[in-house]
Amino acid sequence: MYNSKIVGLGKFLPDNIVTNEDLAKKIETSNEWIIERTGIEERRHIVKGDGNTTASMGAKAAKIALKNANMSANEIDLILFATLSPDYYMPGSGVFVQKILNIPTCPAMDIRNACSGFVYGMATADQFIKTGMYKNILVIGSETQSGAIDMTTRGRDIAVIFGDGAGAAVVTRSQSKDSGILSSHLHSEGEHADDLVMIAPNTNKWVTEIVSENDPEDSSYYPYMNGKVVFKNAISRFEEVINTGLNHNNLKTEDIGLLIPHQANLRISQFIQRKLKLRNDQVYNNIMRYGNTTAASIPIALTEAWEEGKVKEGDIVVLAAFGAGFSWGSTIIKW
Ligand code: UT7
Repeated sequence: MYNSKIVGLGKFLPDNIVTNEDLAKKIETSNEWIIERTGIEERRHIVKGDGNTTASMGAKAAKIALKNANMSANEIDLILFATLSPDYYMPGSGVFVQKILNIPTCPAMDIRNACSGFVYGMATADQFIKTGMYKNILVIGSETQSGAIDMTTRGRDIAVIFGDGAGAAVVTRSQSKDSGILSSHLHSEGEHADDLVMIAPNTNKWVTEIVSENDPEDSSYYPYMNGKVVFKNAISRFEEVINTGLNHNNLKTEDIGLLIPHQANLRISQFIQRKLKLRNDQVYNNIMRYGNTTAASIPIALTEAWEEGKVKEGDIVVLAAFGAGFSWGSTIIKW
């Protein structure tokens, strides 16, 4: 059986910075409230007409990851694309990355596990490599949240948190038995499917219906989040799934070189850090600058940490995510 390892990372963030002050001009909120409750100072939003889409940002991140892996796009055997904000309802965004990168006929598959999408993608890549079916896999997380944000006070809990961006990893076959992806641990709990949800358009309410009704009170096509329930479940599930991963590999929290939690809310990351008794240098956070970019947050943070020299050979790197579904998971890596 083969092992898999990350050999290239890349990220792409749109240029347009949206500060808390910018948001406070449109909705009833304040810089102080956003920083105190979320830790976020600014986030990026694509601008209509700037050429960025979920797929094109993913492709830009993927190109950098391929370059860092010293690999050409044609060597890729599978594209896994994690997003909750695909360019189109169909087809998935993975095939658009394939088109941009000029890769002829490899399979491309979208993963719809919201904030946990990248961790699900890593687990899927690892399994395909372990069985020997594929050798080089592109795992992308990319999001355009800004298009579906309710920029009125009604939508302020969502509006202040979410941002746009993309990250990518090249995962490849490795002969080493004791390094690379050591294990993945995935969970979902449909009981909470309605606590973080974007209802429309759906199979009972198509876009034509929304447009024809033109009801300003209808918020079903904006994301809805039961913030307190999400927060409460996130802190316990993060801790649980990180411990599951560590125990599975006979590791302790002291062994963690770097924990990259999905950047949901800085308070959630700080809570996990305290619960696991981790030092500041063991946890990487960049939500302050990018907001919560859902499936893109982990690959963006991992790329940035790697660029800053915070991920070194032999380190235990833990990726952990929680989000809509609810879905959550962890990936334990020996770099
Ligand atoms: O990626 C994974 C998915 N998402 C998450 O992990 C997010 C999890 N949840 C959260 O991060 C937090 O629940 C929020 C940041 C969304 C909200 O923070 P909170 O501490 O749970 O605030 P709250 O919803 O209890 O609201 C407290 C007050 C309310 O006013 P009243 O009823 O006390 O008068 C809200 O109306 O703050 C008000 N509020 C705001 N005020 C200013 C809610 N959003 C805002 C806002 N600016 N943006």
